Amino acid sequence: MNVLGIETSCDETSVGVVDGDGRVLANVVATQVDIHARYGGIVPEVASRQHVLDIRPVCEQAIVEAGIDWADLDVVSATHGPGLAGSLIVGLNFAKGLAGALGVPLVGVNHMDGHVYGAWARTVDHETHEFQELVGEKAIMCLVVSGGHTELVLLEGHGKFRLIGETRDDAAGEAFDKAARVLGLRYPGGPEIQRVAEGAAYTEPLPRAWMRGSDNFSFSGLKTAVLNRARSLGIYPPDPSGESADPEVVASLAKAFQDSVIDVLVTKTVAAAQREGCAGIVLVGGVAANRPLRENLVEKSPLPVAIPPFELCTDNGAMIAMSGLVNYRNGRRDDWDLDVIPSLRIGTSSLV
Ligand code: KG4
Ligand code: ZN
Repeated sequence: MNVLGIETSCDETSVGVVDGDGRVLANVVATQVDIHARYGGIVPEVASRQHVLDIRPVCEQAIVEAGIDWADLDVVSATHGPGLAGSLIVGLNFAKGLAGALGVPLVGVNHMDGHVYGAWARTVDHETHEFQELVGEKAIMCLVVSGGHTELVLLEGHGKFRLIGETRDDAAGEAFDKAARVLGLRYPGGPEIQRVAEGAAYTEPLPRAWMRGSDNFSFSGLKTAVLNRARSLGIYPPDPSGESADPEVVASLAKAFQDSVIDVLVTKTVAAAQREGCAGIVLVGGVAANRPLRENLVEKSPLPVAIPPFELCTDNGAMIAMSGLVNYRNGRRDDWDLDVIPSLRIGTSSLV
């Protein structure tokens, strides 16, 4: 059994293949990061055009990498939302054409479910944690943190999710991207903030929005706090002469921001998981690539934690194939009228 997964919800064209045991046979990613970096955020029109150029070669490469023939594919799955409409349409329609040509079922995948199932995909150097096999017996708490979403979802059975908390404003990744912009760092901001924060000699804490009494999050106040402090420190707006800001000041503000995001994410996730009697915690999504976040969660959680390797955290086709496999086993079959679910939140990273 081989499932192909196509991901084009944002600025990565990616195709992955998993076998019936969830082993990743291929995971090819063509990233557009450098194309969008010069604009400080994703330009939707540019993203969809690039997907059109990349989808076919990426798909062909995935088949070669997997060491299989087209005829060995049993299911074609694709992200149908949430994401940028123009980007989703490219991958979904390619999937429809491929499934039709091969005469195999088409299975739609929700991008957020895909992120969660990235933690169930197996690679040569990543096996799943024991508690992940308990799906259906015990609930598993999943923190999904990406550029467009920040959600706490309970996985109650395979493919059965219950949303218990989400951001009321900016997503965590979006906050990283916007804070980075204020600090004069390039897009995407998450890896840049992580890198710069490593050099911080001191930090003066920034506020945390606890949203007490709920499992929700809020990051827009923190973003404003970064902006205000950057102004008072004289590093924002950037010097018109082009002179760069004092790296020590930037590092300390980057670390204060990162510490605040991590503290809230980790504290609230652990509390919710314990309250719900979960078997363990799964951390996924692009922001899960953040090393201090990973370390902090493992350190603070009394429950076991599973975090997929970096390449399964950021947008990728293997996680969509894995989620497609689960959906297929749950009996999901889609037809040619499967439409995209656009999300307006993604693609606004250039706005502070
Ligand atoms: O899941 P993803 O690849 O795409 C979306 O579905 O949004 O997540 C992208 C987000 C970006 O906002 C990026 O800044 C963030 O993940 N990100 C990170 C790191 N690597 C990527 N955030 C914090 N630390 C990182 N190391
Ligand atoms: Zn994503």
